[in-house]
Amino acid sequence: MIRSLLSAVLALIFVVSGFSQSYFEDGLSANFHKERRQALRELMPKNSIAVIFTNPTKNRSNDVDFIFHPNTDFFYLTGFREPNSVLVIFSEVRNFDSFSSNEILYVQPRDPRAEQWNGKRLGVDGVKEKLGFEQVFLNEEFGKTPVLNIQESEKILSFNLGKTQEESSANAPLISMIGKFKTETQYPKELSEVTMEMYELIRATEVGNSANVAQVIGRYQRTYPEVEKDPILSDFVKADSPEKRMAIKQNIPDSKLDITSLPKMMDQLREVKTAEEIALLKKAVKISAVGQIEVMKAAKVGMSEREIQGIHEFIYKRYGAEGLGYPSIVGAGNNGCILHYIENDLTNVDQRLLLMDLGAEWRGYTADVTRTIPISGKFNEEEKAIYELVYKAQEAGIALCKVGTDFSEIGQVTRQIINEGLADLGIIKRGERHNYFPHGTSHHLGLDVHDRGGYGSLKEGVVLTVEPGIYIPEGSNCDEKWWGIAVRIEDDILVTSNGPVNLSEDAPRTVEAIEQMMRIPSILQNWALPEID
Ligand code: GLY
Ligand code: MN
Ligand code: MN
Repeated sequence: MIRSLLSAVLALIFVVSGFSQSYFEDGLSANFHKERRQALRELMPKNSIAVIFTNPTKNRSNDVDFIFHPNTDFFYLTGFREPNSVLVIFSEVRNFDSFSSNEILYVQPRDPRAEQWNGKRLGVDGVKEKLGFEQVFLNEEFGKTPVLNIQESEKILSFNLGKTQEESSANAPLISMIGKFKTETQYPKELSEVTMEMYELIRATEVGNSANVAQVIGRYQRTYPEVEKDPILSDFVKADSPEKRMAIKQNIPDSKLDITSLPKMMDQLREVKTAEEIALLKKAVKISAVGQIEVMKAAKVGMSEREIQGIHEFIYKRYGAEGLGYPSIVGAGNNGCILHYIENDLTNVDQRLLLMDLGAEWRGYTADVTRTIPISGKFNEEEKAIYELVYKAQEAGIALCKVGTDFSEIGQVTRQIINEGLADLGIIKRGERHNYFPHGTSHHLGLDVHDRGGYGSLKEGVVLTVEPGIYIPEGSNCDEKWWGIAVRIEDDILVTSNGPVNLSEDAPRTVEAIEQMMRIPSILQNWALPEID
């Protein structure tokens, strides 16, 4: 990294922020984002305003920040990838002194010196031209009346901003905008999203259902300490008559601010992917499948987990993917039992089973593909038995990815197959509770690896993972021959009116197909690097 003396002196100005291009030339079209904003507007209540901040820049250490990643709701609605920006959407066109509009985007200014260090900024004019917004202002204008126009709105929709902290000096403009927003909306200082949700529940409570609402809040108290500590909520739960509960309801502060509806609206919008999104997801997944294929050819005894991770990630870069959807998981043997193992620091994978869960990010969309392979090139008897059980469960799960299936059914069916199979193998007793499959089977996939979406019945255009697994750590209460076996198989499935489409089918998945691919020589075989002490 270049770091001149001058930059050291001007460290505060020239923070090394991992800034990337403002928008994707070959990603979603400006029209996509415009249509999605209109779709959101149609879900918003009358005379409401939605305020959507992008993410803060996160500090890595000293004057180096992590590569900036926009907030995915903000990106979905704008296509803009620069920090320190906020989108304001009005449910209807509002008239201001010098313009009328139903949306405004606030962005950081052009700055030749900052751009020399950290990359080009679009600025107000660039955003208008490239992203198709008509009303674009500098972020310092945010909150100046009448532009924000909050007070004239009946509802102010936003997200939980309680946790946004100034982690890097590069965030100053964002923090300033959030501060203005909080002041204008009297944003509760220490109120969490779940506490506000409970308040909203109580606001809607009638005498007849107050006991049920108290029960619901009581359940939340067990999981969320902030709900337990809140005096109004705990009084409500403790109250022993509807009359007392209705009296406590009067203590809930009135608020125009609503931070629970917008996340639900975004879930609804982002759950079903458009054709443009599906094309980008397909590319991310196909690239990730090539990574799995090349590693199947190249993996051998003596390689490190990190080296294998590097082969996957090199392939992503070779195709021009901008990054990873999540930290890569490459775990050999017992390491595979750690579900989100990201250290990847075993220096020799030896003859172990290797679990590889990785996803390229292509124009904002991420894949999430897992393959488990035997480094020896051949599954042994126990590995094969576990692998084929996971495969059987996954096949049943994939077959259920049809319009109308209930999300929970996929989990139930895969779990039942695994439970029965583990009992057949003598790893558990029939009906015994166990912890060998400790995670869910499916989640939505999109701009986030665990994407927004509802968990009711599947709709056409949904993309979800199906990823059963069995993990038997060393020391488990079963025959030692099973210890250290960890298998997850994860594919990315598009739900269509003609049934499931496996977007990651290029990556071999059966025992035979994997073993066959592992017999193919890799071009990396002859790539010798000099020894370094
Ligand atoms: N890689 C995270 C997951 O599979 O959900
Ligand atoms: Mn995964
Ligand atoms: Mn997953």
